Amino acid sequence: MNKWWQNETVYQIYPRSFNDSNNDGTGDIKGITKKLDYFSYLGVTMLWLCPVYRSPMDDNGYDISDYEKINPEFGTMADLDELIKKAKEHHIKIILDLVINHTSDEHPWFKKALADPNSKYRDYYIFKPGVDNHAPNNWRSLFGGSAWEKVPNENNYYLHVFGKKQPDLNWENPVMKKDIYKMINWWLDKGIAGFRIDSITFIKKDQDFASLPADDNDGMVKVSKKTQNRPGIAKLLKELKANTFEKHDCMTVGEAPGVPYDQFNDFIGPDGYFSMIFDFHYADVDVKNGNEWWDRPDWTPKQFKQLLFTSQMEIQKCGWSANFLENHDQPRSISKLIKDKNYQNAIGAKALAILLLSLRGTPFIYQGEELGMTNFHRKDISEFNDLSSIHNYHAAIEHGYSKQAAIHYVNLRSRDNTRTPYPWNNQQYGGFSQTKPWLEMSGNEDRINNAAQINDADSILNFYKKLISIRNNSEYSDALIHGDIKELTDVPDNVIGFSRHDQHHLDILINFSNKEETVKNYTIKNLIIDNYKDIKTTTSEIVLKPYQAIIFESEA
Ligand code: NOJ
Repeated sequence: MNKWWQNETVYQIYPRSFNDSNNDGTGDIKGITKKLDYFSYLGVTMLWLCPVYRSPMDDNGYDISDYEKINPEFGTMADLDELIKKAKEHHIKIILDLVINHTSDEHPWFKKALADPNSKYRDYYIFKPGVDNHAPNNWRSLFGGSAWEKVPNENNYYLHVFGKKQPDLNWENPVMKKDIYKMINWWLDKGIAGFRIDSITFIKKDQDFASLPADDNDGMVKVSKKTQNRPGIAKLLKELKANTFEKHDCMTVGEAPGVPYDQFNDFIGPDGYFSMIFDFHYADVDVKNGNEWWDRPDWTPKQFKQLLFTSQMEIQKCGWSANFLENHDQPRSISKLIKDKNYQNAIGAKALAILLLSLRGTPFIYQGEELGMTNFHRKDISEFNDLSSIHNYHAAIEHGYSKQAAIHYVNLRSRDNTRTPYPWNNQQYGGFSQTKPWLEMSGNEDRINNAAQINDADSILNFYKKLISIRNNSEYSDALIHGDIKELTDVPDNVIGFSRHDQHHLDILINFSNKEETVKNYTIKNLIIDNYKDIKTTTSEIVLKPYQAIIFESEA
């Protein structure tokens, strides 16, 4: 049965870096509201806002100190209410980020928990006694160092899977859960359309809190082994859904790393915990282990294609995909996926656009992706803001890499790559703000900016607009939104080929290499879109130029 959220095209906003309306160097909610006409122009139907809640911003809002207040740097609750209302007038829905695996250490619950061991809030978090003056076990946090932080003047430690200012909530505690459910329902009653749900596969911890054999020289083991998608999580997620999401007709997108395909039915099947989840199997093609950025496999287009199709096929069996090539934790897709630098331009960006907008599932476009924004090149670690970049830099050096090599790997993968301020025009600070922004611009805003593209019919931005409109408002919409996906296996290794089939039968071919590739036994009857506007074809074959991508109907 079709669901309303299958028709959405989502645009992800990193509020700190989108548009600064009051010129304090930081983006804000009013800045987003000012751009509603732009979203309508582009044709997106939903905005996902990364966290705007009250927060000390240690992890840029993924450390919440008050779930029901807006961080002053972003504005006020009245600003958010206005955005929700005006967005509705533009037929644009808003989803927020829901961060419930952990809070900030500055949340009143945690402050009370810390101040008084007998407070009921102690049990809202995970405190354990130290062993021989050491942490309770050898778990390593995802942002480096022990996952345990000592409580001053006590032989107790608290658990943090992420940074030490992000203490994990104790999902074994029914009272804590009730407070969280109440907060979620309060937000949904306010008229938002749903949530992107942060790190949700981490809420269940192995209750033995046991050490495991070390996986590195530091004697520690990655915390995920005992905290990511662990047995018992099903009960927690069912309960979460029943007490909140199920009561509202909302869309939920789980950030759910670590879920094997044989469990996707539980997560996104007909009775799944969420509408859809992000699948990282294909997104992390460029790193062997998400946490060690220096360990980079030399992946091939064929491998990427296999990962992508496995994802699409596995999900088609049971549910709906949340497709993305970029987000605030990933590098820029054009720098990551287009291997030949000569095509990290409009050709490459448009090829990726065709891929993202014609896969089966709800597409998520990240701010700046529609401009073809690329990674930056920072020279020194002091130029980075992202916690995990700083951790990865030092970890690379500890693993024997030179400073230069460590910076190189951090440049390739840093989360700051997608967090640089959005370039609206070629003026100072890209027109994002009149004050020096909180994070350095990416460095090519003189060339890559919104103003330069919006009036250029051939721009990447207008290519996105066109594709979104083909996807959502054309005779091909049924095929592109609801049609089945089938891999075309009779194409060269370097070509990503698939069909989408409903009332129309569409074929999609994307040459993922810098060489010409010939696809045999296909004839174009009707070319719908082409990133080169120039296709070489005979009655029985199609010759794709480097990174050429097309959507077409073929002769039966
Ligand atoms: C995933 C978020 O996307 C990331 O930005 C954040 O650092 C972690 N979860 C912790 O909340």
